[in-house]
Amino acid sequence: MPKTEAWNANLYDSKHAFVFAFGQELVDLLQPQSEERVLDIGCGTGHLTAKIAESGASVIGIDSSPTMIAKAQVTYPALTFEVADARHFAFTQPFNAVFSNAALHWIQDAETVVIQIVKSLKPGGRLVVEFGGKDNVGAIVSSLQKALQQVGHTSQTAWYYPSIGEYASLLEKHGFRVTQAWHFDRPTKLEDGELGLRNWLAMFASSSLDQLSPEEYEAVLNQIETQLRPTLYREGDWYADYKRIRIVASKA
Ligand code: BEZ
Repeated sequence: MPKTEAWNANLYDSKHAFVFAFGQELVDLLQPQSEERVLDIGCGTGHLTAKIAESGASVIGIDSSPTMIAKAQVTYPALTFEVADARHFAFTQPFNAVFSNAALHWIQDAETVVIQIVKSLKPGGRLVVEFGGKDNVGAIVSSLQKALQQVGHTSQTAWYYPSIGEYASLLEKHGFRVTQAWHFDRPTKLEDGELGLRNWLAMFASSSLDQLSPEEYEAVLNQIETQLRPTLYREGDWYADYKRIRIVASKA
């Protein structure tokens, strides 16, 4: 889920298409039915919302970024999208299912999100989510921290990457029954060959990089590339060390 307006919906679609390309499996796990109401939290540019809608389900996509929602609405004019924060949304009709792909790691206050989700579901309603799990992009994050320190700055990124135990406990605390959980590696090829890691950092770590002068920016990116090349660069492409947590749960 985009945190800032610096997010560029076109760049997101063209260079980071893997974010929603991987999501089809999660839609399959959701198994949306034609008579259902489904909420897609952190829908970005709406591609998975549209996939869910293909089932005939009535789906609403929300995202905190107005630019993402504007692009989603232009791309899929027949679907319903709203700018809304996952910590504060409210709908009058409850949902049969809540879905979210690659969004919940943007929100540190996971408990508030879970409380909102449980309130928005019908009894028996299901939750199907996937996002960054424990140690997600661990090599990139530690290299970023180290490179920033060397030019006298600290990392401003604040992602939420829980383990299965941590997230399942949170869901259980709020009345969910967790029926399936995975934590798995998904090394992810970044678009644009040699530029892949730079593009990824520019898009997703802007809160840390925006504080740098142009010279510091170059020094930091060069250092990260040098440090990570032996492990994350293969045959002309960069691979991000993604680790996903995927959860299926139902409201008791
Ligand atoms: C992720 O999908 O795991 C992710 C994306 C951007 C920044 C950090 C993590």
